[in-house]
Amino acid sequence: MRSLLGGGAGFFTGMLSGLFGRVMSADGEPGWFGGLTIDAPSSGREVVCACMARAVQYRAAAAMSWRCMMMSPRADVGCYEYRQADAGKILPTLLNGCRTRLRRCDKMSNSSFLPSAPFVMSAESRISPRRVSVAPMMDWTDRHCRSLHRLVSRHTWLYTEMVTTGALLYGDVARHLAFTPDEAPVALQLGSSEPADLARSAKLGEQWGYDEINLNCGCPSERVQRSAFGACLMKEPQLVADCVKAMRDAVSIPVTVKHRIGVDTVEDYAFVRDFVGTVADAGCEVFIVHARNAILKGLSAKENREIPPLKYEYAYQLKLNFPQLEISINGGIKTLDEVEEHLKHVDGVMLGREAYHNPYVLAEVDARFYGAAAAVRTREEIEAGLLDYARAELARGTYLSAITRHALGLYRGVAGARGWRRELSDSRQLAKGDLGIFDVGRTHLRDAAALEAVES
Ligand SMILES: Cc1cc2nc3c(=O)[nH]c(=O)nc-3n(C[C@H](O)[C@H](O)[C@H](O)COP(=O)(O)O)c2cc1C
Repeated sequence: MRSLLGGGAGFFTGMLSGLFGRVMSADGEPGWFGGLTIDAPSSGREVVCACMARAVQYRAAAAMSWRCMMMSPRADVGCYEYRQADAGKILPTLLNGCRTRLRRCDKMSNSSFLPSAPFVMSAESRISPRRVSVAPMMDWTDRHCRSLHRLVSRHTWLYTEMVTTGALLYGDVARHLAFTPDEAPVALQLGSSEPADLARSAKLGEQWGYDEINLNCGCPSERVQRSAFGACLMKEPQLVADCVKAMRDAVSIPVTVKHRIGVDTVEDYAFVRDFVGTVADAGCEVFIVHARNAILKGLSAKENREIPPLKYEYAYQLKLNFPQLEISINGGIKTLDEVEEHLKHVDGVMLGREAYHNPYVLAEVDARFYGAAAAVRTREEIEAGLLDYARAELARGTYLSAITRHALGLYRGVAGARGWRRELSDSRQLAKGDLGIFDVGRTHLRDAAALEAVES
């Protein structure tokens, strides 16, 4: 193992300062990393770490981000991958990424960031910023839902709902892409099979500040099939490779693919192995594997998430066959103990329905999987944060129900949760934009807790 740390503090003067240096991979490939620090007195110290590396070094960049997170519990870490050919684009893109995060800092002053010890790249340092993620879910993971998840976990990687390229290229871009900087890191999931449209849409995603572009190759719905994308793309790996290449040529943020393990009656592991191999040849380094087949005829989208059997071993085998790729696993995962078990075999775990119906499942993610030192927030603290968020959104004209509908499960498993859900679904109060429903909802929880105390 070899490592090399160069460094030039004060890369920026004035508002930002930082450190840049060369890294060299174990097999001798040169690359770069960079770290920037911003002091934001009103909101606490924030660290923006922008890392530049290629192929193997991307792992180094992820590990560097990890180091930043360990150093500052409030760290906001971004990880950027660059190819050698993109050298000229590095600085503008880096600044673009930083600017997104800077929007939330009221005031900035100069400070510097230096790793406590020279960074050493090793196999053990391969830690993905997507260690835990929340799945893209149509009609569910909109910006309000993501803001709630972000209140629960600072580090969990979040995905948008799928956005079709048609909606972006011929529709209201702001409606589909606007998000608050507090939600970051967020990945934009795109749906299409047209390389040129995907490239233009990915570019828009990058310009709007997303941290990743993900291509949907897993959706089996009839509507998506009619447009010839989603899961049916798995039957055309070369087309997916072309899509990935077009997007990678257009953006400098990571381009990733979410897919199934097979389509219809194809149960062979070789099918998904060859799919991943072909798409990886086009430069995709991150694959999110929903570990069940997609049945294109005869099952609804909902049934397609329940009936085809889960085969986690296929995702594990992909990691063994492609150790250089980042493999995340998805499907039927409900607890952090299960997450921990999967992480023995793959790089990341994606939670879907459980994270939606029970957002508090993410409460311990930062401490358990990202080494964060900050105390785990209580449900009441999250509710208080959500109330602030709702107040600000109401002032912008957002309907209250658009926010509360995602919070029905916040107290899942707690006595009185049913009363909370009922109050937060009260359409008359919601139509009035009455934030008092939070107080009323809470009384159910208090009463139930008092009753439990008396009974015990
Ligand atoms: C309501 C809903 C909408 C979904 N929409 C998408 C989508 O837009 N894109 C996608 O790739 N997967 C979508 N999925 C699938 C999820 O991302 C995930 O792969 C699936 O739910 C399995 O994970 P889970 O068992 O943890 O829920 C959706 C799932 C649900 C429940």
